[in-house]
Order: sequence, then C-alpha cells, then structure tokens
Amino acid sequence: MTTVYAVERNLTLEAVRVTEAAALAAAAHMGMGDERAADQGALSAIQETLKSLNIDGTVRIGPGGDDTALPLHVGEKLGTGRGPAVDVALMPLEGTSITARGGSDALSLFALAEDGGFLHVPDIYMDKIAVGRGLPAGTIDLDDEPGANLRRLAETKNVDVDELVVCILDRPRHGKLIGQVRESGARIMLISDGDVSGAVATLLPGSGVDVYMGIGGARQGVLTAAALVSGGGCMQARLVVRSEEDRRKLHACGIFDADRKYGASEMAWGEITFAATGVTRGTMLSGVRFLHGHAVTHSLVMRSTTGTLRYVEAHHNFGHQG
Ligand code: FBP
Repeated sequence: MTTVYAVERNLTLEAVRVTEAAALAAAAHMGMGDERAADQGALSAIQETLKSLNIDGTVRIGPGGDDTALPLHVGEKLGTGRGPAVDVALMPLEGTSITARGGSDALSLFALAEDGGFLHVPDIYMDKIAVGRGLPAGTIDLDDEPGANLRRLAETKNVDVDELVVCILDRPRHGKLIGQVRESGARIMLISDGDVSGAVATLLPGSGVDVYMGIGGARQGVLTAAALVSGGGCMQARLVVRSEEDRRKLHACGIFDADRKYGASEMAWGEITFAATGVTRGTMLSGVRFLHGHAVTHSLVMRSTTGTLRYVEAHHNFGHQG
C-alpha cells in the first residue's frame, strides 16, 4: 500500500515534467501564425518525454483520437512499461490557434487515472457546466436555465448574481446562452478558444471566473472532468450529437445513450492526477518566458487523493551539462 502511494506521489512531479516539455516546445512558436508548427512541436516534445516515464500507460483521450494512424491515438501504449498501469488523457497543446496568435490561456495538459478511469469519447462536441470547489451537489444542473443556475450559485456563495462571472466560448452557437446570462445580471468573460482553461479557472479563487458554461470539445470535457475531480469542483456534461456521423462515432466508443447527463466523476474516476503548464500568458497560469539561456514555466498539478493543488515554477537551464 505504502509503495503504491509513493509511486503515485512521484508521478505528480513526472506529470508536470511532461506538460513543461510540451509547453516549452509550443511556446517557441507563439505568435508566428503557424498552428501546425506549434502543435507539432508540442506533440514531438511530449512523445520524447513520455518515452522515459515509468508508467504502463494507455491513451484514452489524445490528439490522435481513434485514428490509429495518428500519434497519441486511443489505445496507444505510453511510457517504459515499468510502473503502474494507468490511463492517460492528454492534449500536448490545448489552444493551437491561441498560440499561433499569441493570445491568452493556451495550455499543455496531461492527466492520469487508474486503469480504465477515463470515459472514452469521440471528437464531437459536449455541453458543459462547471463550478469550483466547496459547493454542495445540486448547486448546478445542466438541465436548468442559466438564470436558475446563476441564482442558486449566487445564493450558495452568498453574493449577488451581478458579482458572478461566467466564462463562455465566443461562438455564434452561444448567442442564446449569452443573452440569457446577460438577462440574469451576471457578467461574462468571452474566450476565443481553450475551454479547459475556462472551466479549470473556476477552481482558482484568484481567476475571477465563477462558472463555465457552453459547448466545446468532448475530449476537452473529459480533461476538464479530470481537473475538477482532482481539485474538488463540480461539473455536468452531455454529448452533443449534430449528425449521423457524430452518432456513428459515439456508437464506436460504446455510447448508445446520447442524452445521458454525466457528472465529473462519471467521466474521470478513481485516483486522478492532473497537470497543466501555461504556454501563453493566462488567467490561471503564466506563459513560458524565455530568458537568455534558460526559460521559466508555470504549472499546476492536482491529485484527487488529497485534493492538493500545487503551483510549480520551474527554471529550465538549457546550457546545463548533466
Ligand atoms: P484549438 O483547436 O485551437 O486547440 O482549440 C481548442 C478549443 O478551443 C477547445 O478548447 C474547445 O473545446 C474547442 O476548441 C471548441 O471547438 P470549436 O472551435 O469548434 O468551437
């Protein structure tokens, strides 16, 4: 028992090393207008780092999706094979367009669960609502109107609705949602991309975000669930089927009830470790700073076993001879 715990604690720092490597590589392409290069840089760096990670890992959520021809696809084995059997959910670069533009809140993400601990979802959309820690179950309900959720949240937090900030992806599909939130009196933070960051921000009191609402990627939804389970937040989500193709993809993942409402712990369960490193500057993490001969990264890592959230500032010395 003691040994297993020690192994997991060590993996916390290893998880941060993985996201740091991807963030350093991606950040070198910040503002260059080249999404592919940023994405590829992060991907190659994470693949290299994973080669020496002592896990017997299997990708459950990855940039390659279910396409076995692509790197980091579902089912791909990761790590040295010498270590605990774990499921891996990762996005080497969440926010490729943000990085290419030099915008805010691009992240590198990596999460571990016990074997079989992540919901297998296809690359379709998911409707999500997420709030931070310390709130009783029932504070949010995806099936309620935004105004009802916001009034309940305000009451639970003992604030007025107009003191709440709702983070929403800036998309035409959210026109109605934005109108309803404005009508409720709550304020809005519209983000151009990167809804994992918007949802995880609800866990951090200093972020200024109280609740995340709206439709984004399903794979990002599972990573968000991993973060919220680790950090003690609440989330509800439902997959969005827009076409027969989406339905076919869902069935291929073994999901036949498309209307099912998922709680965070039904998407990421057991002992979870979640790590994120800032690529570009953001509301919750600073981006990579390159200085002469070295770089500084800012990461957070959380473990569901303890609910501990750690910030890790790392100074990487490129000239160091080991
Ligand atoms: P990138 O593809 O630029 O990395 O964007 C990621 C993202 O913004 C996610 O955070 C979000 O869940 C999804 O894309 C939204 O998809 P869409 O851009 O199709 O609305």
